[in-house]
Amino acid sequence: MDYFSESIKQAIRTVPDWPNPGVQFRDITTVLQDRTAFRKLIDAFVHRYHGQQIDAVAAVDARGFIIGSALAYELNAGLVLVRKKGKLPFDTLVEDYQLEYGTASVELHKDAFRQGDRVILVDDLIATGGTMMAASRLIRRIRAEIVEVAAMIDLPDLGGSQKLRDEGLAVYTVCS
Ligand code: PRP
Ligand code: ADE
Repeated sequence: MDYFSESIKQAIRTVPDWPNPGVQFRDITTVLQDRTAFRKLIDAFVHRYHGQQIDAVAAVDARGFIIGSALAYELNAGLVLVRKKGKLPFDTLVEDYQLEYGTASVELHKDAFRQGDRVILVDDLIATGGTMMAASRLIRRIRAEIVEVAAMIDLPDLGGSQKLRDEGLAVYTVCS
């Protein structure tokens, strides 16, 4: 665990007061552009789920796509995109949610999963948990099984990961 988390944590850049005053923005571009940290990040997730039956990785728009696509490839699983509203072309389900700094909606294609598919839901960060909660509601509406909700960063002071656990979801984060 520490093997993965320490060097990744050091590579995260914190930008104060962005995009709004008072927000400590965790910028992951510095992890992605560091080949060692990026590889360790993906390895941490692969190590966690390797050997389990995982049918799909559901990745959250936009930074979740980066982690999710590499993870799905390594697990030989499908990749499903949970997108911000208005981006998916076929029939969708929609869920609204509150952000640390605003409100938004996420969408999922109705035929994204088969009933009972075992799914890892992934994003870069859990803050208030609103995004992951809305995404997990979408997945459950299609009756797929969420094996775990996974993120690179947890901001535990904002309570999101605990809220997800209170909803009966297993949560894995690499750094907090
Ligand atoms: C960020 C982050 C997560 C979400 C976490 O995305 O990538 O998706 O916020 O916050 P929460 O736990 O309080 O819901 P953002 O909504 O800023 O969108 P972006 O990926 O388009 O930048
Ligand atoms: N999404 C919500 N809060 C965030 C934060 N502090 N840093 C990066 N992304 C976020």
